[in-house]
Amino acid sequence: MPQPGLLAPTDTGLATQYAAYANPQWVRLLNLLQMNVRYERCLGAELFTTVGRTILDFLSGYCVHNAGHNHPDIVAALTRELESYGPAMLQSHVPELAGELAQRLCRLAGGRLTKVSFCSSGSEGVEAAIKFSRAYTGRGGMLYAQGAFHGLTCGALSLMDEPFWRDGFGPLLPGTEAVPFGSVDALAERLATRQFAAFLVEPVQAEAGIRVPDAEYLKTAQELCRRYGTLFVLDEVQTGMYRTGPFLATHHFGLDPDMVILAKALSGGLVPSGALLLSDEVYRSVFRSLKRAIVHTSTFSENGLAMRAGLATLDVLEARRLGQRAGELGAWFRQQLASALAEFEMVREVRGLGLLSGIEFTAPRQLRLRIPFAAFRRIHRGMFGQVLVMRLFREHNILTQICGNNFMVLKAAPPLVVSQAQLDTFVRELREVVELVHNSTVFWSEALGLAGRAVNI
Ligand SMILES: Cc1ncc(COP(=O)(O)O)c(C=O)c1O
Repeated sequence: MPQPGLLAPTDTGLATQYAAYANPQWVRLLNLLQMNVRYERCLGAELFTTVGRTILDFLSGYCVHNAGHNHPDIVAALTRELESYGPAMLQSHVPELAGELAQRLCRLAGGRLTKVSFCSSGSEGVEAAIKFSRAYTGRGGMLYAQGAFHGLTCGALSLMDEPFWRDGFGPLLPGTEAVPFGSVDALAERLATRQFAAFLVEPVQAEAGIRVPDAEYLKTAQELCRRYGTLFVLDEVQTGMYRTGPFLATHHFGLDPDMVILAKALSGGLVPSGALLLSDEVYRSVFRSLKRAIVHTSTFSENGLAMRAGLATLDVLEARRLGQRAGELGAWFRQQLASALAEFEMVREVRGLGLLSGIEFTAPRQLRLRIPFAAFRRIHRGMFGQVLVMRLFREHNILTQICGNNFMVLKAAPPLVVSQAQLDTFVRELREVVELVHNSTVFWSEALGLAGRAVNI
C-alpha cells in the first residue's frame, strides 16, 4: 500500500490503486511538483480537470497529439472501425488497411522510402532499424549522436549516451558509438572505419534541447554515409507527422534517407503505433525469400485500429493543413517569445522548427541570482527548470516540460491545432514566470522548499 503522505488531496481511489500496484514513484513525483490533477476531458489543445481548471497543453504528450486531443474525426473513424467487426490481429490474412496506410506514408515521405514495416512504438521502430541495417550491411556497429533520445528498450538505449537512462541496465549492444551532433569531422572519421551499419540521428534533437542543426550538417552526413556504405537513418518520432512544418523534418534539409522512424503522432494519440519507412533494397535484405516472409514482425504492428487511426490522422492533418500552420505559427511564436523574453539575462536563446520550440535558460550573472541558482543546482541539475514547469502549471495553467537530456531548455510543443490566441497566452504567462525569476525571491524560496521536500520523501 502507498506510504502515508504519498497521496495528494486530489487523489482518488484509482490513483491509490495506481500508486499501490503500478508506479508509486511516479505518483510521488507528480505530487511533489503539484501536478497530480485529474483530467476528465481533453480536446484540441485544452485539458479540463475535474475541479474546473482548463490547462493549455504545450507538451502534447511529447509530440503525440499533433492533431489535437481526441479529434472528433479520428474518434469517429475508430468507432466505425470497431463497429465493423472486421478482422483484427488474425496474423493469417492480408491487413488491407496497413497497405493503404503504408502507401500514403511512402508517398508523403518520398525519395527512396517505398516500403513500411509497422510496429507499436518508437523504440520498436529503432530496434527494427538496427536489425535492418545489420542485415543490409553485414556490419555490427551503430553510430548515433551525443544527447540523442531514441527510446528505452535495450537496443534503442544502446544508442543513447546519457547515463541517467543507461545506468544499471547493461550490458547493452556492443559496437555502438556516439559522435557529437553537428560535427561532420567526427562523423567522417568514425565512418571511415567501415564498421558501422547505420548512423541513426534525429533531424532536430528534441530531448537534447531542441537542437536544430546547421542547414548543411545532415546533407553532408548523408553523403558521408553513402561514401562509406553506412545507412543513413532518421528518427522522426517527435519531428515527423508535420510537427516541424513539412511531413518530415527531413524535407527541410532536402535529404533522402535510407530509413525513417515514425511513431507518437502517427495514430492521433489514441492507439499505439509506429512505422519504419525504408527503401526496397533494404527491405529485400531482410525479406529476401518466401521462407523469410515473417522473419521480422510483431503481434500488434498492423492491427486495424492503429492503421485506421493512422489514416484518419493523416486526413485531419492534411485537410486542416496543419503542417503549413505549424510552419507559419511556429516562426511567429518564436519571434513573440524572443521579443517578450529579450530583457532577461537568464534567457539564452529561443529556437526550434515549426511548432517544436525550446527556450534555453542559462546561469545568471548577477550575484543576487547566482547564489540561489548555484544552491539548487547543487541539489539537482533539473531543479531550476522543474520549478519553472511547476509554476507554469500551478499558477498559469500551462502544461509543459523541460527536455529529458537538457534540463535548462523548456519545451513548447502544443498540438498543431493550437490557436494564435493560445500561443499568445503562453508567451504572456511564461514572461510573468521569467519576470518572477529575475525580480522576486518567491521563485527561489519555493525552489529551495521543493528541494527540501524532494530530499525528505
Ligand atoms: C526521438 C525519439 N525517438 C524514439 C522514442 C521512443 O519512442 P517510444 O517511447 O514510443 O518507444 C522517443 C520517445 O520519446 C523519441 O522522442
